Amino acid sequence: MGLFTKKRSLVPVEYLPQNVGIIMDGNGRWAKNRGLPRTAGHVAGAKVFRKIAKYCDRRGIKVLTVYAFSTENWKRPQAEIDAIMNLLRDYLKESLSDFKHENICTRFIGDRTMLAPDIQELMAEAEESTADKTGMILNIAINYGGRAEIVHALRELVADGVSPEEITEQSVEAHLYTAGQPEVDLILRPSGEYRLSNYLIWQCAYAEYVFMDVLWPDFTEKHLEKAFTEYARRNRRFGGV
Ligand code: IPE
Ligand code: IPE
Ligand code: MG
Repeated sequence: MGLFTKKRSLVPVEYLPQNVGIIMDGNGRWAKNRGLPRTAGHVAGAKVFRKIAKYCDRRGIKVLTVYAFSTENWKRPQAEIDAIMNLLRDYLKESLSDFKHENICTRFIGDRTMLAPDIQELMAEAEESTADKTGMILNIAINYGGRAEIVHALRELVADGVSPEEITEQSVEAHLYTAGQPEVDLILRPSGEYRLSNYLIWQCAYAEYVFMDVLWPDFTEKHLEKAFTEYARRNRRFGGV
């Protein structure tokens, strides 16, 4: 109901980005500011992720792609990696129960072969059990890197015996983890950092960027609406006039 009472001030759905990418950054700093261990920031961030994902679906976003763990994040202390993986396990189990009431189609992007076997199984179950959902596509990027994704796509093309002339933007696109989905319209990065950190580098070629000085665990629906308002004001030209 809260969503609809303030409807007049919200960007109409036809002006919203269809495909939104979010770099969920700032968990560690949020925890540090409170004198808590970094893992407490990840716990808080995971809660915000659930809330924002559900909100995006209700708001009419077609595709939401969240950056949960990068190919570079293996450089972190093992205890922090383990904590993040345990949060992922919790989420996956929950998504098989609580999230089944949502109309969200969950997919994972990234190289999952490096993850624990039980996590890989839960990921497959979560994908299968939500494959028929007709609402938003939620891509969760885990062990994801944009460069690794492009290398993976090229390897598949080579393995298929594709000739140089057959390598086109379309054929590369068709081998990305996000094949068949619309291009990214909006990239949102909280935490005050102004970089992509190897996120969706192919898909973002013509995206609009909104950087916000808020740490992810403090991120609310209001911040998201502010980003949508900013996006709706942008003049996208795609190289034209
Ligand atoms: C993002 O928060 C979560 C992951 C990368 C898994 P960070 O852990 O990067 O938080 P900061 O950037 O150190 O504050
Ligand atoms: C990007 O954040 C990855 C995720 C949010 C999962 P990082 O915190 O890892 O990025 P850098 O190190 O600041 O570039
Ligand atoms: Mg960070």
